[in-house]
Amino acid sequence: MALAAAPRPVVLVSRSRGTTGTASAMAQGGIAAAVGPGDDAVFHAADTLVAGACHNHVGAVLDLAQAAPEAVQWLGSLGVQFDRAGDGQLSLGREGGHDRARIVHAGGDATGHAVMQVLAAAAANAPHVHWLAGKTLQAIGLAADGRVAGVRVCDVAGRSAQLAAADLVLATGGIGALFSATTNPEGADGSGLALALAAGAEGRDLEFIQWHPTAFASPSGRHLPLVTEALRGAGARLVDEQGVPLMQGTHPLADLAPRDVVARRLWRHRRAGGQAWLDARRLDEAAWRQFPSVLSLCAQHGIDPRSDRIPVTPAVHFHMGGVAVDPKGESSLAGLHAVGEVACSGVHGANRLASNSLLEGLVCGRLLGARLRSQGKRAAPVLRWVDAGPDADGESRERLAMHLTAALGPLRSGESLAAAMAAITADPAMAGRWQGRLALALLAPAMARKRSLGAHYRVDSASAGNIRQGIETPAYGETA
Ligand code: SIN
Repeated sequence: MALAAAPRPVVLVSRSRGTTGTASAMAQGGIAAAVGPGDDAVFHAADTLVAGACHNHVGAVLDLAQAAPEAVQWLGSLGVQFDRAGDGQLSLGREGGHDRARIVHAGGDATGHAVMQVLAAAAANAPHVHWLAGKTLQAIGLAADGRVAGVRVCDVAGRSAQLAAADLVLATGGIGALFSATTNPEGADGSGLALALAAGAEGRDLEFIQWHPTAFASPSGRHLPLVTEALRGAGARLVDEQGVPLMQGTHPLADLAPRDVVARRLWRHRRAGGQAWLDARRLDEAAWRQFPSVLSLCAQHGIDPRSDRIPVTPAVHFHMGGVAVDPKGESSLAGLHAVGEVACSGVHGANRLASNSLLEGLVCGRLLGARLRSQGKRAAPVLRWVDAGPDADGESRERLAMHLTAALGPLRSGESLAAAMAAITADPAMAGRWQGRLALALLAPAMARKRSLGAHYRVDSASAGNIRQGIETPAYGETA
């Protein structure tokens, strides 16, 4: 976004220096783009819609799929070295929900790192970008007419500063850190979304939360490293403790079914007391060269995935919902824009297709930047400041994570949602803090949506009455 806004001056505020601690830099998957022989943006769009349970904004899906090849080319022109086959053509990998190999990677399973390094260097060298690192967004200033007029940021020592801004773009990532198990970094705590909602912006699809089936099942900590789905694209299989394939008979695409289907299967298996493993022992040495991050992760845990199976568990990975934005990235609050995981343009529907998230950030970010380039409004004076509210303490955050994980997992029920809402509402140490308010904002639409759709799967909608009314909706092709 910042690069495309040139020459309009941009102040880039980030918590970390460089790209450390961002979900984009951690992305092991790549970028989906219809660049292979015989592929077409229409096929990419169709897979995106099927994965999203057709809850997607169809126009946004087509635009995204059509823009993907050019976005890859643009990154290449900036210096991203995409992986290529011996003949010089882009190497294409396959991931869940795609009908063919369509994912470009850089550095094997380190695409996010490669892309973010190049973009960060370009932003650091861009004369129109002033990068304020080590700062957190604390409050939004609103003018007399209600539009955005400024931001208040704060550093680790608690010193705050106010900046005038006629346009504010949120790119603050997801909400995984609110849960007990997530592939997201610590900073993905939903604070940007909470602030936008507090300032009056509308949210959309907040109940749709994607669980990735294969986080590394580490015994300690809530931030679990990802074991990329591309391994299953290369031939790895999910198995139980006896080595029996877990996905066979669950979906025609088996291990490469859309993520929500695979996550539910593993969640059920683990809830029944089983363990899930990724068996990648059949991959040859050439294939393993595409997975340096997984090899190094496993080595840190004393595992050699060429001879050992990898323990895996579902973990929160991506929020399809977020600040409601139109196809131009504009929210319902004048002057507030959002892009990437914090935003919900409707492109991902009820469940994001693999390797569409870096793509969305790139394509929508560039479009938004280009649009804001020509809107050089002056910021009006700030009439009032809005923040999200006080922070919950560590213990309350743990309790909140437990309630959210129990209620908003891959399998949900009215009973568990109501229990979580009641427990949070009754406890001022949660309900009176921004994390608690955000949690209730996620739980309420999940409670209201009685019918299963994509990543929102209501086990109680399978009651006899509901089936008679035809409101049980397993994923396309899934054996319920
Ligand atoms: C993965 O590599 O499994 C995740 C990619 C994505 O989030 O799309």
